[in-house]
Amino acid sequence: MPIAVTPVTPVFCARLSGVDINKPLDEGTFKTIRAAFDEHLILIFSGQPMTDEQQIEFSERFGPLEGTDKAGVNPGAGTPFARQSNLDITSGAVIPADDRRMFYQKANMLWHADSTFKPIPSLCSVLTARIVPPDGGATEFASTRAAYASLGEREKADIEDLVIEHDFAHSRSLVGFNFTEEELAGRAPVRHRLVRTNKATGLKSVMIGVHAKCVVGWPEDESRALLDDLLARATREENTYRHEWRAGDVIVWDNQAAVHRATEYDTAHHQRLMQRTTISSGNAAAS
Ligand code: OGA
Ligand code: MN
Repeated sequence: MPIAVTPVTPVFCARLSGVDINKPLDEGTFKTIRAAFDEHLILIFSGQPMTDEQQIEFSERFGPLEGTDKAGVNPGAGTPFARQSNLDITSGAVIPADDRRMFYQKANMLWHADSTFKPIPSLCSVLTARIVPPDGGATEFASTRAAYASLGEREKADIEDLVIEHDFAHSRSLVGFNFTEEELAGRAPVRHRLVRTNKATGLKSVMIGVHAKCVVGWPEDESRALLDDLLARATREENTYRHEWRAGDVIVWDNQAAVHRATEYDTAHHQRLMQRTTISSGNAAAS
């Protein structure tokens, strides 16, 4: 059966069916998936519950996986995964709302792209829904390719060569989260070009989101105004999509041409376990 690629909105996101992504994918099949990713930025697969090994195998088709923390505040620390979850990884017990690990996850509710604060930015993330609460806990997406496209020619030229400083400590501080010195080690601010070009389609986007602290060399107010304007363009209603998860859903999202955010759920009464692999763009020269 050929893969069916069905656009979800007129702007971005597609549902893919007719492929079992838990089986080894031949070159032709993966090429179709990769082309859909380059075109639609967000790929949704349903009814494909994955094991950890299957998630790694599928994710590695997109490129090398980023390393993960051996210890720390993400509930996935010590595994190859980042976890968005209120469940303790060893005991399986619900983590209390006032625990640091839950507080840390609050920053996911601000529009962001994963790992823009790393020296090599991420190409994409793969998030698998393992346990889904009966309501709440949706994830929202917005297209920063659409944000770029909405600019006038003059504005596009003005931002073409801008460099952005991304800072993980800055973004977490916005929700009042303070890191220990140990946690901040290796998290120095990094600089990346604002405008990104998709190699396959030639389409441009802006890599923004909550980790984007400032435009290098600009006064703070102008810098903030530009970043806010670009985010406002990306998150215009017509450029967004909200995904209500079902267990077994798998979503691949672009971290250079889209932003995303988590939404609330009842963490005291319901369980949620989402497991993420993050694929590096693996190309410092292009960063
Ligand atoms: C992530 C993330 C959103 C969510 O895994 O990177 O932002 O809804 N997840 O859990
Ligand atoms: Mn994220």
